Amino acid sequence: MRNQLLIGGTWLDGDGRFPVTDPATGDEITTVADGTPAHATAAVDAAAAAQIGWASTSPRERSEVLRACWSTLVDHTDELAELITTEHGKPLADARGEVAYAAEFFRWNAEEAVRIHGSISTAPSGANKIIVRHPPVGVVVMVTPWNFPAAMITRKVAPALGAGNAVVIKPPKETPLTALRVADLLQAAGVPDGVVNVVPTTTSSTWFDAATEHTATRMVSFTGSTEVGRILLRRCADRVLKVAMELGGNAPFIVFDDADLDAAVEGAMVAKMRHSAETCTAANRFFAEAGIAADFTAALAEAMASIRVGRGFDPEVACGPMINAGAVESIGGLVDAAVDAGARVATGGSAIDGPGHFYTPTVLGGVEAGADITRHEIFGPVAPVIPFTDRDEMIRHANDTEMGLAAYVYSGDLATALSTSERLESGMVGINRGAMSDPAAPFGGMKQSGLGREGASEGIYEFCETQYVAVSW
Ligand code: SIN
Repeated sequence: MRNQLLIGGTWLDGDGRFPVTDPATGDEITTVADGTPAHATAAVDAAAAAQIGWASTSPRERSEVLRACWSTLVDHTDELAELITTEHGKPLADARGEVAYAAEFFRWNAEEAVRIHGSISTAPSGANKIIVRHPPVGVVVMVTPWNFPAAMITRKVAPALGAGNAVVIKPPKETPLTALRVADLLQAAGVPDGVVNVVPTTTSSTWFDAATEHTATRMVSFTGSTEVGRILLRRCADRVLKVAMELGGNAPFIVFDDADLDAAVEGAMVAKMRHSAETCTAANRFFAEAGIAADFTAALAEAMASIRVGRGFDPEVACGPMINAGAVESIGGLVDAAVDAGARVATGGSAIDGPGHFYTPTVLGGVEAGADITRHEIFGPVAPVIPFTDRDEMIRHANDTEMGLAAYVYSGDLATALSTSERLESGMVGINRGAMSDPAAPFGGMKQSGLGREGASEGIYEFCETQYVAVSW
């Protein structure tokens, strides 16, 4: 098990060590080297040195390395999935799905790395040509979350490397083991020393300052909460760093009367419960039209009640632990307040005694649009259902949030679904689908859910500069 810092291709000790625990049992898994601000600086130094050689390789060479990364990660699916389940807690099947998803970012970007197109045009005056090219941005500092210990790293690293950049990663202190092993495997697949550096830390704030004050750092890519994103954006402003931000969500899941009830419930379960309901795309507010609301609430409650909660290694388990005790407390607080305000518990509604940090899958019926629980990203297995009669009013409520990441629409009429999607202030909309994450699609949010897109062909350009050359000939 890798548990040191990776800087310039060398595994190093930090300043002391910190424990990583299994959220399903509370047991310590191991300890990990604790990186300091000085290590962050050293990692940016190493990345800057490696960047020169890596950026000068041909797109085809980089593409071949990325392709090798994809197959190496796939070859280690079992090992990586077990690591993810151990430190994050998600069911093993979800963890295996995450490894496939994580690896796919390398295969996709191996294909994109040879297709970074520029352009040439004639100036309107006819006096010169306008050449536009896209060189790599430079050293990228990446701050990644615990909910997808592998995929939220590879979604950034693969396009960054494909474009010719070197990176410094600060993985979350909750799940650093997967990050370190992924980096180890990338090295084994042929990524040169110093191109990928990983520095776990318990002192995130000073670590981040050191990494971003370094003059070689050119960009910050962050996935996490909007609250933290705002703080990082302010700090990046001091050096006018390029930023990519994948922030929080508050996804509406809209079920119209003409929806196929079974399909809507199946989609709702995926949109709510994948990866133990700890995703930023998770359905957070279920708007059900009056004619279907009672049946939808009852069927969703039945499906949620049938879910086995427990340690992710049990093959019957479909919902693992929450990441820590604070998460369970926050979910419980939102549910209790909703019930006090008049919501009806259709199933669940309570935490499960330890060891471990578990919460019962919960459905709340009769929630008021605008109730407190609809204003927070729940990040747990709780589905508040809000009945509606007026479609325009429902759309207003669905958009009445500072977030705009994901939304879901279920209707038997494609015209209804598509016209609804056009009115939703959301970067991604699933129509009659509960999952839409795909390396080939542009993942990202409107409003305060983020800046930029990850995946698709847009993803690699996020890690490029634009240079214009005026030429007379
Ligand atoms: C996230 O929760 O941050 C990402 C979810 C996904 O990629 O599906």
